[in-house]
Amino acid sequence: MAKKTIKAKEEIITDDLVDTKEKETAPEEPLKLIVNGKRLDGRGFNDLRPIKIEAGVLERADGSAYVEFGDTHALAAVYGPRELHPRHLTEPQQAVLRVRYDMIPFSVGDRKRPGPDRRSIEISKVTREALEPVVFLKHYPKTGIDVFIEIVQADAGTRVAGITAASVALADAGIEMSDLVAACSAGKVDGEIVVDVNGAEDNNGEADVPVALSPKNNRITLLQMDGQLTEKEFDKALNYAVEGCKKIYQMQKDALKRKYSVLTEGLLENNNKGSE
Ligand code: CDP
Repeated sequence: MAKKTIKAKEEIITDDLVDTKEKETAPEEPLKLIVNGKRLDGRGFNDLRPIKIEAGVLERADGSAYVEFGDTHALAAVYGPRELHPRHLTEPQQAVLRVRYDMIPFSVGDRKRPGPDRRSIEISKVTREALEPVVFLKHYPKTGIDVFIEIVQADAGTRVAGITAASVALADAGIEMSDLVAACSAGKVDGEIVVDVNGAEDNNGEADVPVALSPKNNRITLLQMDGQLTEKEFDKALNYAVEGCKKIYQMQKDALKRKYSVLTEGLLENNNKGSE
């Protein structure tokens, strides 16, 4: 009787080992990102994630903004125009725009080591170049304007969310600009061109095209590409991203209007109280 029990156990153990071995060697099914014409989060190809933009969220910055593109959350703070340190960087004829993009350690699945790395240095540079064309730097000679972008939570598209936030924060700081800059990405997943790729799509997709646009000036200030696209696919991705930028631009303007209409209402109320 006892022997039978042991045998049964052995069989179970052997079966378990076979199962595990099969699982280890079985080729992994590629993740289907598009099912029945819909993306995994239920979006159509040309739908943005739920977007939230808020201006003036930080008390101690000259200007600030908070932006959500789905699960990607970015915070931007602007300080300046102010005296530039170190002084030797000062430009006699114009302001110096400096940008620091940073991901906080708990913004990603694997803890991100604090401090700058190659990726964040590159994103800081392209963000500065995306914003510079709209800022009237010559209106603020011998000063510095500092933009800090913190990615609080990352699920792809952090550079475009950061640029969108920084542009609202600059306007909130009262920096003179010819326009806002709105940014959005498009990509290719499961062979389809889609707008505003999320984390799963970015990790498993075929291409990613982040774009920044100054809609009033009709000027693209950032255009990058990761992956491979045919010329036709690239045109479609660019069109989708530009369309996305235009929708986001409207939300940026609404966020600024919301903040300043609240301020104006407050001022009017105080004035009315004073005259009573
Ligand atoms: O964020 P963005 O799409 O502008 O840039 P990326 O370099 O293409 O990164 C894509 C995504 O990879 C990020 O948004 C994060 O979700 C993820 N990532 C990460 O998990 N850990 C990092 N150290 C860097 C990026």
